[in-house]
Amino acid sequence: ATGGCTATMIDATAGSVRQQVSRLLRESLHVSLQPVAELDPSVVDVEPLVAICNPRFGDYQCNNAMGIWSKIRGKPSSYRNPNSIGQAIVANLPASTLIESATVAGPGFVNLVLSTSYIAQRLDQMLIQGIGSWAPVLPIQRALVDFSSPNIAKEMHVGHLRSTIIGDSLARMLEYCHVEVLRRNHVGDWGTQFGMLIEYLFEEFPNWEEIGEQAIGDLQAFYKAAKQKFDADPAFKEKAQQAVVRLQRYHVAWESICDISRREFDLVYKRLNVTLEEKGESFYNPYIPAVLEKLSEKGLIEESDGAKVIRIEGVEYPLIVVKRDGGYNYASTDLAACWYRLNVERAEWLVYVTDIGQAQHFDMWFKAVKRAGWLPVNDNDYPKAKHVGFGLVLGADGKRFRTRSSEVVRLIELLDEAKSRSMQGLVERGREGEWTAEELEHAAEALGYGAIKYADLKNNRLTNYIFNFDQMLDVRGNTAVYLLYAHARIRSIIRRSGKNIEELKQIGTITLDHENERQLGLHLVQFAEIVEDALAEFYPNILCEYLYNLSEVFTKFYSNCTVIGSEQETSRLLICEATSTVMRECFKLLGITPLERL
Ligand code: ARG
Repeated sequence: ATGGCTATMIDATAGSVRQQVSRLLRESLHVSLQPVAELDPSVVDVEPLVAICNPRFGDYQCNNAMGIWSKIRGKPSSYRNPNSIGQAIVANLPASTLIESATVAGPGFVNLVLSTSYIAQRLDQMLIQGIGSWAPVLPIQRALVDFSSPNIAKEMHVGHLRSTIIGDSLARMLEYCHVEVLRRNHVGDWGTQFGMLIEYLFEEFPNWEEIGEQAIGDLQAFYKAAKQKFDADPAFKEKAQQAVVRLQRYHVAWESICDISRREFDLVYKRLNVTLEEKGESFYNPYIPAVLEKLSEKGLIEESDGAKVIRIEGVEYPLIVVKRDGGYNYASTDLAACWYRLNVERAEWLVYVTDIGQAQHFDMWFKAVKRAGWLPVNDNDYPKAKHVGFGLVLGADGKRFRTRSSEVVRLIELLDEAKSRSMQGLVERGREGEWTAEELEHAAEALGYGAIKYADLKNNRLTNYIFNFDQMLDVRGNTAVYLLYAHARIRSIIRRSGKNIEELKQIGTITLDHENERQLGLHLVQFAEIVEDALAEFYPNILCEYLYNLSEVFTKFYSNCTVIGSEQETSRLLICEATSTVMRECFKLLGITPLERL
């Protein structure tokens, strides 16, 4: 289709329930505000403010009346108070099968009750068309998520684990919304560590070309030894630093080191089932001079003390883009990468997932590219750039997470321990006798890796959290293990019924007569707007909270509504099926593998 008519092409039933409610309210507001448009033109394009309502009053509420009143009060109009505006919003609501009732409360809140049969229909429709049919509508087609991004030769640490887990989940949510996601691994393959490693390789192993990778052996140990020398021997340090500048000549050695590291990273990604496409810092090197030239033409770049810098309003120190020795740095690379991502890859949303320690760095260069006109000044317009920061992973002592010998924790060992602990739990529960070795393996991985991911994602990403195996693997409490059990239990209800659920989907329909059925149905159809909310500021914990609440609302339903053998068996089995479908999609978006039985 060609552009221009997209607005009218949007299906009125597309998007989340909240998007549909908003669409009705937008029309009503438009009509209701015609009579006062002359008083204050800004009221005409007012966006509906829709929120979840206290369940005693309704399902959603519209909060526009008060704000509109403050714009027109004192001016001659037919509205005498915010309440009368609320009344008009109710009166002008277009007829639809969506809304059961609309009432005005207090100073002008409009409370909306969804029609129960609409909720049921939406569930029926999802069971047939798949949960993709619920996806929220986003105004972009392509995003780039820059995540994980470890540094070559250095150990991938828990900070990178967080970045990998959070970034993957955000990418999955965008993908759910039909956005094409460039999952970008911005590996540190071009920093000072290379001068150090390569000089060390040359000095210690003059014959390194013959023995190849064996000279390096365990890259971790190699890095440590090189670093020791780097710190202890000023002459070596000097040499190493010069070497970075000559790096290009050492291309072959560089590639070897990158390959070893990459293989190590891939072991982690494979366990976590995360896909990434690598374009490391070095990729952007050839673009840097031209990109800096573009910024210079806009008058952004100044000389300072032999270096080239960009001054940022409100920040004491400028952003250095060319060092005094003529070398480029992390910032120049990010500027070049930004240019490339916007102009070559045409991404409309650039998302950067790193620890909050880098917030200032991103803030500075975001401001610089806004000044250059690469990004719009208004933060609501696309293309957008967003730094998604996160806090530290702490050990039991409340300090940075380290091993007993105060080394960086090796991620592979951490993941393997989660798996083996889960395996032990399954064995204790007697699963060894019941399942094949493969089934056990699969379940132990889903539980172990799922536990680590969920323990990370359930926290507000900005806060630090304590890494605790016992807690994250607890079958009770807000853990992946608990949730995976809850899901498997629903699957087993459906199995025990002996009914063919695929057939029921075709011939049966859902009714939501019991109050706990309606509550569960409403929670389920709100899935799409939760994804919207989680993506608005990139907080995966919003989705975790939704999933946890879903398991609780289901438990209430299940304890008060008999499923198997009841008169409403078909409908209730379909409610179980819808619940497990939504749970599975939550797991998927969190990067967790659901299990059919546990
Ligand atoms: N390599 C960096 C680190 O380990 C993260 C890179 C993030 N991405 C970026 N475009 N700066 O902290």
